[in-house]
Amino acid sequence: MWSRIETRALVDLNTLSACKIQAGLGTRFIGRTVVYRAEVGSTNDEARRAARAGAPEGTLVIADYQNQGRGRLDRGWVAPPGSGLLMSLVFRPELSAHQVQRLTMLCGLAVADAIERQTGLEAGLKWPNDVVIAGSKVCGILSEIEFEGPKVSFAVVGIGINVNLDPVLLPADLRLTATSLSREVGAEVARLPLLQALLQRIEERYSTIGLAHSLHREWAARLVTLGKAVTVSGTMPALEGMAENVNVDGALLVRLADGTLEKVL
Ligand code: BTN
Repeated sequence: MWSRIETRALVDLNTLSACKIQAGLGTRFIGRTVVYRAEVGSTNDEARRAARAGAPEGTLVIADYQNQGRGRLDRGWVAPPGSGLLMSLVFRPELSAHQVQRLTMLCGLAVADAIERQTGLEAGLKWPNDVVIAGSKVCGILSEIEFEGPKVSFAVVGIGINVNLDPVLLPADLRLTATSLSREVGAEVARLPLLQALLQRIEERYSTIGLAHSLHREWAARLVTLGKAVTVSGTMPALEGMAENVNVDGALLVRLADGTLEKVL
């Protein structure tokens, strides 16, 4: 008598490749062109090179490891191989320079949506471009623009999410303020469905809401920064005051001790 042995292909939902990312993605343009690399300097630099060479809107550059990962204010972005989502998207928006923060808002909201959908965790936003869980940073966004005369030629939005990472492995100055999804959930989180959910949320927001209308109200509702005493670094000197609101372009409105309202973008 013959018995039939059934074999079922187990799809590894944590290992990334261009084919796996695109399979079942269902988007029209976000992630329809994928450049996947095991290791790069910075995905933002790769995406910028691709955009200069004519890469279409929505091109995704994603890597398992960056040896020159960059953050805001000339800081680095450190993540052990395979521990996170390290990605950059090319956009060719009809925006003027002061409106480009709308892209960062849109992507921040999409990251928060995707995290909540895939993990059930509650995600907040920290001005200007962090996604936080219970006050600790789980994702940073770095948007960079290139101009052609006065017009935005393209924007690269870089997103780094700590997925399966023990924050103990991070440099000492980040350990206390950073977290990861696996740490918050208490188990490994599969990177592939999280990435696909994120790409779908970005496209949904980009094509239905568009960038003609600012997302600042929805963004402000998620900002954990508002109503708090803040120190804004990156200005000279650093600004201290109470974060009251954000304006349509995402600038933070800070009430200073002398009662004046300062706009910081
Ligand atoms: C920050 O919080 O300062 C922004 C961090 C942005 C990190 C991401 S990781 C993918 C992309 N490539 C980079 O070099 N940086 C961004």
